[in-house]
Amino acid sequence: MQKHPTEYTILAIETSCDETAAAVVRGGRTIVANVVASQLQAHQQHGGIVPEIASRQHIRHFVPVVQEALGALEHGWDDVDAVAATYGPGLSGALLTGLNGAKAMAWQRGLPFVGVNHIEAHMYANWLVPSANSGTAGVPSAGSDTAGVPQFPFVTLVVSGGHTILALVRGHGHYEVLGQTRDDAAGEAFDKVARILELGYPGGPAIEQAAQPSEKTMTLPRAWLRNTYDFSFSGLKTAVLHKVQERQNQAATIEPVAPDTHKKRGGTTKQQKSVSDAHFIAHIAYAFQESVVDVLVTKTIRAAHQFEATEILLAGGVAANKRLREELTSQADIPVRCPPIALCTDNAAMVGAAAYYRFHDARSGWNLDVEPHLALGA
Ligand code: KG4
Ligand code: ZN
Repeated sequence: MQKHPTEYTILAIETSCDETAAAVVRGGRTIVANVVASQLQAHQQHGGIVPEIASRQHIRHFVPVVQEALGALEHGWDDVDAVAATYGPGLSGALLTGLNGAKAMAWQRGLPFVGVNHIEAHMYANWLVPSANSGTAGVPSAGSDTAGVPQFPFVTLVVSGGHTILALVRGHGHYEVLGQTRDDAAGEAFDKVARILELGYPGGPAIEQAAQPSEKTMTLPRAWLRNTYDFSFSGLKTAVLHKVQERQNQAATIEPVAPDTHKKRGGTTKQQKSVSDAHFIAHIAYAFQESVVDVLVTKTIRAAHQFEATEILLAGGVAANKRLREELTSQADIPVRCPPIALCTDNAAMVGAAAYYRFHDARSGWNLDVEPHLALGA
């Protein structure tokens, strides 16, 4: 880096899943531009992400998002010192579009290219300084002293649609994975349960919105997997499914409705929602969220104590969940950092931050290929 490190400017690209994103990050912390083109509408009708559609959408959105991000710089490309892109983990076709586009731009401009691990990038969202004009302003987390950069060693919980990882981080690039999910990722569990409850996609925000505590609380199981820092959410998802089926069976015996009349009124048969269904959904969504949050918070705090961590860093799409942020912050006796909500889900600013702090030892050759199953610390 020839410039002063605080001036070093990285154009970052993120296309690992269903967001086409480009950002400009200065000095690893300051967001100059943060552009995200969501593909939500294209996938919503299918109830989840369709990889082929994702790749095509990335190709459509790539140039406009890059142009918009560069537009925030006074001298455009002349102000850019390096280009970074996510090379894994993620959907291979989706990763290919961003990685190849980024490498081509860097090559053509004679700029260094940096490959970034997506899981690591989520964690580095905690280094970013929220800026008023990039749509990322917000209080990082209540009640915590988190003004400066994160202090090592810390424990990080990365919870997204594809990953649930608890790791001890002793320095930049020094990861010790303490535990991870043995089946569904936390975000995947939110998405699958939302589908069972017919709340739509993505499930996390829909469940969070639907969840309401009740006097007569419903409790759902927690998979503690004792003496490990691993997680499991598939049993919880099945428990939700059983409760829903039980409820439907009860409704069918108490209130038999002639299928024809029912169809004419609402267009659906058994699963048509009534007011009491709305209550049921609010309570089961709440119980599900409590179960996920309880396990995540308890294990993270236990790991922080055991490894004498200085701080806890929360990251990934599920870190946008307010209940998770509140519980972790209120139960931990060390500072807890959470990225602003807008930087929890996929974005390229976090890729720019990771590229800056991992600049010298990141994977960066022109022959760097996508790695859909890339692990943390690989
Ligand atoms: O990090 P991300 O954008 O993509 C991956 O790397 O997977 O995370 C997306 C995941 C989805 O599963 C989504 O349902 C979940 O994050 N999510 C949430 C919330 N917002 C997004 N889960 C719980 N509560 C939320 N508010
Ligand atoms: Zn992600």
